Amino acid sequence: MDGMVTIERHILDQEASSPSASGVFSGLLYEIALAGKIIQREVSRAGLIELLGKTGDVNIQGETVAKLDEYSNEVMVRTLSMGNRVCLMGSEEVDDVIIPENGAKQGKYVVCFDPLDGSSNIDANVSIGTIFSIFRRKSELGTLPTREDALQPGSELIGAGYIVYGSSTMLVYTTKGGTVDGFTYDPSVGEFLRSHQNIRTPETGRIYSVNEGNVQYWERGIQQFLVGVKAEDKARKRPYAHRYIGSLVADFHRNLLYGGIFLYPRNVRGGKKNNGKLRLLYEAMPLAMVAVNAGGGASTGRMPILDVQPTELHQRVPLIIGSRNDVDEAVRFIAAEEEE
Ligand code: AHG
Ligand code: MN
Ligand code: MN
Repeated sequence: MDGMVTIERHILDQEASSPSASGVFSGLLYEIALAGKIIQREVSRAGLIELLGKTGDVNIQGETVAKLDEYSNEVMVRTLSMGNRVCLMGSEEVDDVIIPENGAKQGKYVVCFDPLDGSSNIDANVSIGTIFSIFRRKSELGTLPTREDALQPGSELIGAGYIVYGSSTMLVYTTKGGTVDGFTYDPSVGEFLRSHQNIRTPETGRIYSVNEGNVQYWERGIQQFLVGVKAEDKARKRPYAHRYIGSLVADFHRNLLYGGIFLYPRNVRGGKKNNGKLRLLYEAMPLAMVAVNAGGGASTGRMPILDVQPTELHQRVPLIIGSRNDVDEAVRFIAAEEEE
């Protein structure tokens, strides 16, 4: 029965069933679960131990760094540097790649991560999360890794997932061609116990999640798509409900389970022109792997997220992700309203 299978047991069972999996990958997933337990402990008492608020620093993203951002980053870097499984890391909180002393030459894997997603919500006690991408290194074992080891497209991911620190703490992950499975943390036994096996996201949702305050800056196709989801259409169970927490992990996780579409479009007009806010390697790409393996979709609006070839560690992409039929419809609207 579920609720008795620990994440370690689940990983070992998966390893047993896929000959290609090696114990090293299992150990890596276990280390990420350990980091999640440590971060969860601090998140749950941040208000009591002076971990709320800002550090006063600004990161490469140009965002003020919350104390919990910095703490979570420390925990991820230290945990992943423990074994000699990881040769290189990319973190939202660190400008350049991180090459751990002992794993550099022997580590088989590369991990990119957003140590704490939804920082703006920390002081208000709203759900936040950690997101991670796992690649096999491209450089030869025995050599020093390079930044190219991190700049791989989502089609090369061998694992990805997230931890959401909400009313309960859940770890959701998937592997290449694998299922999406969820584990709920039970602090009384200190274990992540399997609570959601083989998550499948509804093909059509009933929720849309977007910060509509920016609607005037978006391309016409997105604007028209949003008019559609808000129009009454009983046959299509519309209007959809609007839900937007402002923590990508929390918005994504709810839509994954209930069905829905999350959008963070790029700005094409006005003074705020950009390529969107969310980062490819450690936000859009890992969640795209989870969405696709759960039967959903993920697009920049012009191409599948998993096909985008990264050129920069912290590059941003527009993100449209969730129930497949809704994502496909948004992409069709963008194509139909293609602006020069
Ligand atoms: P992070 O805290 O890691 O910088 O991520 C914040 C992101 C994401 O969690 C969320 O979806 C988005 O910022 C919200 O942005 P807006 O406040 O512009 O809507
Ligand atoms: Mn984030
Ligand atoms: Mn973050």
